[in-house]
Amino acid sequence: MLAKVQTAAVVGLTAVPVTVEVDVTDGLPGITLVGLPDATVRESKERVRSAIKNTQFAWPQTRVTVNLAPADVRKEGSAFDFPVALGLLAASGQLEPELLGDVVALGELALDGGLRPVPGVLAIALSLKAKGKRLLLPSANAREAAVVGGVRVYALENLHQAVSFLRGAEAVEPTRSDLFDLRQPPGEPGGDLSEVKGQAVAKRALEVAVAGGHHVLMLGPPGVGKTMLAQRIPTLMPELSLEEALETTLVYSVLGRVPPESPLLFLRPFRAPHHTVSDVGLIGGGTVPKPGEISMAHHGVLFLDEMPEFSRAAIEALRQPLEEGSVTVTRAYGAMTFPAKVMLIASMNPCPCGFAGSPSRACLCVPSQIQKYRSRVSGPLMDRIDIHLEVPPVPLAELTGDPQGESSFAVRGRVVEVRARQRERFRAEPGIYCNAQMRHREIRRFCSLGPEGRDLLKKAVKTLGFSARAYDRVLKVSRTIADLSRSEEIRPEHLAEAIQYRALDRNSWVQP
Ligand SMILES: Nc1ncnc2c1ncn2[C@@H]1O[C@H](COP(=O)(O)OP(=O)(O)O)[C@@H](O)[C@H]1O
Ligand SMILES: [Mg+2]
Repeated sequence: MLAKVQTAAVVGLTAVPVTVEVDVTDGLPGITLVGLPDATVRESKERVRSAIKNTQFAWPQTRVTVNLAPADVRKEGSAFDFPVALGLLAASGQLEPELLGDVVALGELALDGGLRPVPGVLAIALSLKAKGKRLLLPSANAREAAVVGGVRVYALENLHQAVSFLRGAEAVEPTRSDLFDLRQPPGEPGGDLSEVKGQAVAKRALEVAVAGGHHVLMLGPPGVGKTMLAQRIPTLMPELSLEEALETTLVYSVLGRVPPESPLLFLRPFRAPHHTVSDVGLIGGGTVPKPGEISMAHHGVLFLDEMPEFSRAAIEALRQPLEEGSVTVTRAYGAMTFPAKVMLIASMNPCPCGFAGSPSRACLCVPSQIQKYRSRVSGPLMDRIDIHLEVPPVPLAELTGDPQGESSFAVRGRVVEVRARQRERFRAEPGIYCNAQMRHREIRRFCSLGPEGRDLLKKAVKTLGFSARAYDRVLKVSRTIADLSRSEEIRPEHLAEAIQYRALDRNSWVQP
């Protein structure tokens, strides 16, 4: 007898409907699996066999053929165990096939028949919105899928319960994820900006960066608080909107990394990959393409601590994604796009030992070493970074002193206001939401200077040796600084502050 069960595969970030066809016919006992399954799917036979036997169902003593259709979609992972088992029970007369009509099932089977979570259920739930299906899932996945309204999600513990539920012998209530409940972040993330003592200049620069969405490179000796500051940047950013939260969670869903207790990620992600990360690990890819660190940081912060330590290939691979806000991976069977709208925060020491230019400790590096170290970050990636920030050591008095700086909450309040102003400004410009995203045309239009400002910038170009790109960056940052002081006009003091944030363009940096 032939039975069919609906399920789905995830390709990139998209769900593709898959039909599991199970045919039980006369012949020698054995099971064949066809339809482009990979190794993990082929192992499914063994898990399904044990799960069925250990759930007191019978394994058919005849020939079984399982087809995963359509055959041109690559199937991977263990999520087909559950639909294959249901199909097998139906095809062997142990479950009424008509009970499976409106069912979409997904899940890995344990040998005892228990259901284990699988990746990608959010993508699948999104594709089933308002389709009138019942989505049967392992209970650890149910809340993740239920954040999508308009889909009936049923959380199941094991194969036995699934069959009882389908037959109506056991009631299971649809799972609900109340979006309002999910919004309450579980505890304070990261830490608060007020814990960082001193560093007033750096804090101000980071406020500017977050307000306008500018990438930042922090430059300073070890132990001055660069990592500490970077970790607190997500606390300065506005909360994720529901739409953004869904986009970011989708990335974690296909990677199978959504925590069951917080199925929708409302906190801005902060990703700090180690410098040994490969280019694929950083931007995504692989034979079966998966999102990388930059996509896991979507709508949040990608932090490259000690940037010169990263491989050249990894740094170079970042260029395009940073420009486009997305990563496109091309493989034999098509191209996939992953989202990658991030704020890039990088840090580096001034030299390999870290103490070049330090008043308190002697630098041990020879000039050629310093040159080599610095040259690793010069070039195309640096051109995409708006703010270069020098982070000096904190004087002892400030470090031990009592006065607390502003809290993240206070800074975030100003950021939210300035972001709203930018959205208003770019209402008619598709794809542009903040000052950092302005292209040449918008810079022309929104960053005009008075005569005094033009003079100042001309002087800076001469004395500091700005490139044409640096020139545009300065204008964008000064637009944000003007916005923070609620000024439509970019005044000379706004421009002067933006010029300060170009430490690496200064000639002094090139010749140590
Ligand atoms: N400005 C600061 N205020 C409070 N603590 C600091 C500050 N700077 C450094 N520290 C302390 O020193 C530690 C190391 O700082 P870190 O951020 O790792 O420095 P860096 O990344 O610049 O090398 C921090 O964990 C913190 O305990
Ligand atoms: Mg550090």
